[in-house]
Amino acid sequence: MFEPGAGPAANPAAGRLRPIRTFEPRRSRVTKAQGEALLRLWPTWGLDIDGSRVLDLDELFATLPAGSPVVLEIGFGMGEATVQMAAADRETGLLAVDVHTPGQGNLLRLADLQGLTNVRVANGDALILLREMLPERCLTGLRIYFPDPWPKKRHNKRRLVQTPFLDLAATRLAPGAVLHCATDWEPYAEQMLEVLSAHPDFENTQEDGGFAARPEHRPQTRFEGQGIRKGHRVHDLLFRRRP
Ligand SMILES: C[S@@+](CC[C@H](N)C(=O)[O-])C[C@H]1O[C@@H](n2cnc3c(N)ncnc32)[C@H](O)[C@@H]1O
Repeated sequence: MFEPGAGPAANPAAGRLRPIRTFEPRRSRVTKAQGEALLRLWPTWGLDIDGSRVLDLDELFATLPAGSPVVLEIGFGMGEATVQMAAADRETGLLAVDVHTPGQGNLLRLADLQGLTNVRVANGDALILLREMLPERCLTGLRIYFPDPWPKKRHNKRRLVQTPFLDLAATRLAPGAVLHCATDWEPYAEQMLEVLSAHPDFENTQEDGGFAARPEHRPQTRFEGQGIRKGHRVHDLLFRRRP
């Protein structure tokens, strides 16, 4: 039976300077299958975000040829879409980060079922990962699908995609790397478009300067499905890191 302490750490960056929390604490149960996956697979594919060192991505993705592209996905949820994208492009390393333990177990389980060796599951705050553990210009892509919308005005400051975040992300992205965001929350979509369009380090891949159609490589995510069932409209944004 999975017990906290056996796999991902409960609070890997304890004692470090924490950014404003962009995620909602959730207390959902780890199922038997997820717990088994965490116990068996975490030591091989898991990474605690403790902020203690800068990662060598060739070492982290030693199953791939040195210099392979690496994409970061922030907030993979239950990981179904992550696994589909990793399976469709096995030559790219996929560093997937979330704080949600059941989701981490689920992603490990799904990746194992498909025999994937290009997925690494990071546990903790993506902002600490970016700020303290990733070298400059190391990412060939960044995916943020359906980040927590924080709809209440007083919570808007918790939204992930804001100028200070883009300042940080821009330093970790290689020139030409694509930042791909999607959301079903209209005001957040507008905010994303506004801050990305205004940011000097990013350019819109869309000639009309607007939202993009969902690219084929992005499967529908779990959270997206819930939004669509509620009648929400989904927006994708595809921006490129300027050289
Ligand atoms: C609304 S869910 C969407 C999950 C998934 N992308 C989907 O579309 O089904 C947002 C996820 O982002 C994670 N998250 C938010 N802020 C984060 C952060 N700073 N670091 C790591 N994960 C974060 C949350 O834990 C949550 O699982």
